[in-house]
Amino acid sequence: MEVGAGLSWEDHQTRIITRKIVHMKKILITGAAGFIGSHVARLFVNKYPDYHIFNLDKLTYAGNLENLKDIDKKPNYTFVLGDIVNGEFILDLFKKHQFDGVIHLAAESHVDRSIENPMEFVMTNVIGTVNLLNAANAIWKGNYSGKRFYHVSTDEVYGSLGDEGFFYEDTAYDPHSPYSASKASSDHFVRAYQDTYGLPVIISNCSNNYGPNQFPEKLIPLFLNNIRNNKPLPVYGKGENVRDWLYVEDHATAIDVIYHQGANGETFNIGGHNEWKNIDLIKVMCKVMDKKLGREPGTSEKLIAYVTDRAGHDLRYAIDSTKLQNELGWKPSLQFEEGIEKTIDWYMQNEEWLKNVTSGTYQKYYEKMYKDR
Ligand code: NAD
Ligand code: TYD
Repeated sequence: MEVGAGLSWEDHQTRIITRKIVHMKKILITGAAGFIGSHVARLFVNKYPDYHIFNLDKLTYAGNLENLKDIDKKPNYTFVLGDIVNGEFILDLFKKHQFDGVIHLAAESHVDRSIENPMEFVMTNVIGTVNLLNAANAIWKGNYSGKRFYHVSTDEVYGSLGDEGFFYEDTAYDPHSPYSASKASSDHFVRAYQDTYGLPVIISNCSNNYGPNQFPEKLIPLFLNNIRNNKPLPVYGKGENVRDWLYVEDHATAIDVIYHQGANGETFNIGGHNEWKNIDLIKVMCKVMDKKLGREPGTSEKLIAYVTDRAGHDLRYAIDSTKLQNELGWKPSLQFEEGIEKTIDWYMQNEEWLKNVTSGTYQKYYEKMYKDR
């Protein structure tokens, strides 16, 4: 739609927005229509009314504006549809809005998909990150005061632990999946831009998140959905792999603290000291779901089906987040029992959300991923 002197509707809107927010701190959050990004955007929009939050998202299968419907009318929030792989578009966006900060979460995030299609992970996670770094560098060059590029990464870059030990900030990188290799690569580029150009960057590496709005391809929402629908629970290998689970809102508060208080060039590990063997966690989900669904105890456990293991499956992740706790005073607010209860209640109460995201192409994904296991 054209408005006035050759301006598109979008340009017109942007001009109005730009006039209004000229004195506000402008923060670009990438991937804020996704799971973690939506919780970060909600926290920032509500907690910092004098910031303007731009959500740049391509709306892949994992991006869903439904996740943000409680904040999408707020005056300090703007959604921008776009692909971080398109470098020209990204540079124009930075020139247009002159962001003060970037919190970069947009990514392809699922290990199983990375095994099927690694190039997509290279494009978004590596090229997309470098496009953002280039754009930030171009508009901030020589004037880094008050600027910050925050890169959100994963503990999976550190590889796999045995039965003992933890990942620390200085643990050597040893990624095994195309997903973790692409995130490791993006982390290296972020640090290289600091060392080479002086870009003010900060990185956090977080353990597995769980909570509302997670796409049901990841363990917890997938299994809750399957339990509810009486479908098999495909446990990879023997179910003995260990993950360290953190409630998503606690990840968002950690990002807030690190964005505002962390020093440039620092890395912070984020985790909940909450390790679970997959099979034990699955049994807890089955037990709670039996209760919520009014099923006989033990009914849902019968759905457990051991299937072929994931290729290159990391045995154990465990984060030491002492640095974040000691230096910036962050700690998780929820115990796991409370977090999993809240999560299960959310999925039970948001059947419509689950139905919407599991319709269409999701069915094809599910058949393809699980048919030969
Ligand atoms: P997600 O898959 O739920 O969301 C990713 C978002 O990025 C989606 O909204 C998607 O549309 C968007 N996106 C994907 N490709 C894009 C592109 N080319 N251009 C613009 N937008 C694009 O992921 P998540 O679980 O919320 O993870 C967010 C970030 O946190 C990722 O960087 C991930 O590596 C990291 N992380 C995730 C976890 C976890 O347990 N989920 C743990 C630690 C770190
Ligand atoms: P996932 O949620 O994919 O996170 P990540 O692999 O990034 O840690 O998987 C968590 C654990 O659950 C991991 O050890 C793989 C396992 N898993 C299954 O056993 N079955 C499944 O269908 C899925 C998706 C995961």
